Amino acid sequence: STKTTLAGIHFDNCLMNAAGVYCYDASELNQIQNSMAGTFVTKTGTVTPRTGNQVPRYRATHLGSINSMGLPNKGLQYYMDYISQQQKAVPHKTYFQSIAGFNLAEDEYLLAQIQASDFTGVVELNLSCPNVPGKPQIGYDFETVEKILTRVFEVYRGPLGIKLPPYFDIVHFDQMATILNQFPLAFVNSVNSIGNGLIIDSLSERVTIKPKHGFGGIGGDYLKPTALANVHAFYQRLKPSIQIIGTGGIKSGQDAFEHILCGASMVQVGTALHAEGPQIFARLTAELKTIMYQKGYTTLTDFRGKLNYL
Ligand code: DHB
Repeated sequence: STKTTLAGIHFDNCLMNAAGVYCYDASELNQIQNSMAGTFVTKTGTVTPRTGNQVPRYRATHLGSINSMGLPNKGLQYYMDYISQQQKAVPHKTYFQSIAGFNLAEDEYLLAQIQASDFTGVVELNLSCPNVPGKPQIGYDFETVEKILTRVFEVYRGPLGIKLPPYFDIVHFDQMATILNQFPLAFVNSVNSIGNGLIIDSLSERVTIKPKHGFGGIGGDYLKPTALANVHAFYQRLKPSIQIIGTGGIKSGQDAFEHILCGASMVQVGTALHAEGPQIFARLTAELKTIMYQKGYTTLTDFRGKLNYL
């Protein structure tokens, strides 16, 4: 089977959506609920609702996607209300709430709201949105990450993990892992999009999305080798109590298998879910099960993290 455990919580399937895709409102989240996905994560909820950047702000190509959404979302309270309903309607499942503050005080406020609610799920703190003009990706500011996590675990007691941007240097893996190992994180989710790429159209000689003169986060095939590297680098370096969620370039059962082989306990689908819709989870689950059967594996723990070296 493709079941998994994260933060001591059981999930019937390791496959789920990546934050930002099919999770904007109740209609989209219901579609994930009605699919083969093991659970859902909400769109990143902010203190107040946001309309996001100008459109067009998402473009797909044969090899992936570019986006500069700008955190459009209905505000934390909307998603908390939705999850509260789901917790009652489908109590055997556990849900992920993605959040992002624009400063430490907002992070504290968001976590206080969740702490004071009936939320029984898992929090994913987004430290990696590349698309809000004037706001750098927090995950690239190592001092600020340490400062935020110190405060986060003073105010929040439930299971919480972080979504990180991709890193591209071994020393950065070492330095970030040393910081993260100081904290009781439930998980690290690697990776968010490769920030501020450019996908252009030769024919019209134009950029393909409107915000930021066309610069945006890159997902899909372009991202998979970087995602696998980040998943495995953190799997090698983090203490065993910090599990890994693998995100980046998953569009087949083989891609999911590779993320798990690199150490992922759960895998999230962004660009391919956007392209194919929630029925993708049935296909990916069947493909992953076929690979496992052919290799003689019955559970994810038979191969998780067991990547071989030359
Ligand atoms: C957005 C994009 C991201 O890659 C992310 O992590 C968070 C938000 C966005 O632009 O909405």
